[in-house]
Amino acid sequence: MNLGATLIKSRRSVRSFTHAPVDNEIIHETLECARLAPTAMNLQPWLFGAVTDKALMKQISDMTDHGRFIEGAAVCFAVFGEKEAKYYLEDCCAATENMIICLQGYGLGTCWVAGDKKDYAEPVRKLLNVPEKYTLVSLIACGFPKEISMPKKKHLDVVSFTDTWKEETS
Ligand SMILES: Cc1cc2nc3c(=O)[nH]c(=O)nc-3n(C[C@H](O)[C@H](O)[C@H](O)COP(=O)(O)O)c2cc1C
Repeated sequence: MNLGATLIKSRRSVRSFTHAPVDNEIIHETLECARLAPTAMNLQPWLFGAVTDKALMKQISDMTDHGRFIEGAAVCFAVFGEKEAKYYLEDCCAATENMIICLQGYGLGTCWVAGDKKDYAEPVRKLLNVPEKYTLVSLIACGFPKEISMPKKKHLDVVSFTDTWKEETS
């Protein structure tokens, strides 16, 4: 198995973190991996935030519906996309996954927290003083894992096909 596949296969969402801090170098590398993600027409229509200030993280956490664990993370990344760019959502999701896999390589736990389509997208943007042309796509809670659960995944046979899809008859 190659390194990329090993990292991808071992990743699961983590919502419970130790108090250990995350080095600035790791944060920098994560942002580097974000900016190198593929984008439609190479527009790179995004802005990436790394929030480590505890008071800000608590405020973000309180704004979310299913991201209250952000408060206990060491860092919360925020991915914003330029609303005018047609494929900003796809582009920002690609960047989000790049960041998650980068962090997995450091043994860090992450959980993708929804931003796009959420009522708190605009309040989070304002809180972080991000210009109006951007909209929140995702938040990534990150820290060293305290607990890791392994949710079940659908079997490959059920979710894939080769050449053309055929209904299972057996
Ligand atoms: C677009 C998106 C939004 C998500 N939003 C949340 C969220 O708001 N809160 C949360 O706890 N998990 C969130 N997750 C994480 C999923 O719940 C998780 O990926 C899923 O249960 C599968 O588990 P796994 O990541 O361990 O494979 C989100 C994941 C994605 C891709």
